[in-house]
Amino acid sequence: MRDTTAANGPKRRATASPDPALLMAWYDRHAREMPWRIGPEARKAGVQPNPYHVWLSEIMLQQTTVAAVKEYWLKFTRLWPTVADLAAAEDAQVMAAWAGLGYYARARNLLKCARAVVSDHGGQFPDTEEALLTLPGIGPYTAAAVAAIAFDRRAVVLDGNVERVMARLYAEQTELPDAKPILRAYADGLTPQLRPGCHAQAVMDLGATLCSPRNPACGLCPWRDACQGRLEGVAETLPRKRPKKAKPTRTGIVYVVRRVDGAWLLETRPEAGLLGGMLGWPGTDWSETPPDPAPPLQADWRDAGAEVRHTFTHFHLRLRVMTAVADARARPRCGAFVARAEFQPASLPTVMRKAYDLASQRWERV
Ligand code: ADE
Repeated sequence: MRDTTAANGPKRRATASPDPALLMAWYDRHAREMPWRIGPEARKAGVQPNPYHVWLSEIMLQQTTVAAVKEYWLKFTRLWPTVADLAAAEDAQVMAAWAGLGYYARARNLLKCARAVVSDHGGQFPDTEEALLTLPGIGPYTAAAVAAIAFDRRAVVLDGNVERVMARLYAEQTELPDAKPILRAYADGLTPQLRPGCHAQAVMDLGATLCSPRNPACGLCPWRDACQGRLEGVAETLPRKRPKKAKPTRTGIVYVVRRVDGAWLLETRPEAGLLGGMLGWPGTDWSETPPDPAPPLQADWRDAGAEVRHTFTHFHLRLRVMTAVADARARPRCGAFVARAEFQPASLPTVMRKAYDLASQRWERV
């Protein structure tokens, strides 16, 4: 920590209480620029946010960094400038555009939500937290964020950054996730009637910049005098978290087949499972016991030589990559050949992209 107060010795109580106006003054000077954001100056001048832009950004930002989201958000708004354009898009195109961003259920729900906005709400996002919550893929976080940021409704927006700020401000020692309702109550107590959208973004920006998980820049913080965690010298240790369970390792095999004319054997994964609706290579199930081989066709199979390693939320994966060249008459058990000109590696989810890269390296060597 760059500015600490001794952890030892008698605890001091913060003399000030956190003042939302101090945070707002900080945000007015230091708001991060984001392509979907109407900055504080423009907002004060009366520029209204585009609810579609805000909603799209908030869905993309779940479990994903601002830096990673920017390029995808720009691509989506270029391809589909309005929610009606997105609603009319083909599923496969949207899934392909989402490839690499992860958590693919978000993309499936994104489309369902866009279609519900068009069919049930005349193409306009509803403007209350309650009504937003009825839409597919919109949970309490997104409903609050869109209500606040797009419609300037007073709503309590609680994400990981906000939880960290609140835990430190009030030196909350309860472990997450049990601490959530307590932290929500703190955030609620600080949410103003005035400019609630800017307030929500200000707390998130504070958490993402100064009040960082490690080495917080307390000396620069607009709430430093009110921060009980700083006064007790424990800010950096908060929020406390229940230890995570160790992730198991699963294994599987994927089969990367290229036909003599350059076409690739691909399949669309079932909607319900992991990477649901995404394009991928045929393969075995992924489990903690070694997989039984399940090649999609008879061929002279070669091991690509190295494994793909990838980590999902609940497990690590090691994938063996088998490659083969199929002749023109090959009739695979599953999947379908996609012509060379129609195949874009960028439309694969990351784990499948890694398998493609490995297989390509092998072919380059032969
Ligand atoms: N994280 C998620 N949404 C955000 C936003 N609107 N501003 C800053 N950080 C965010």
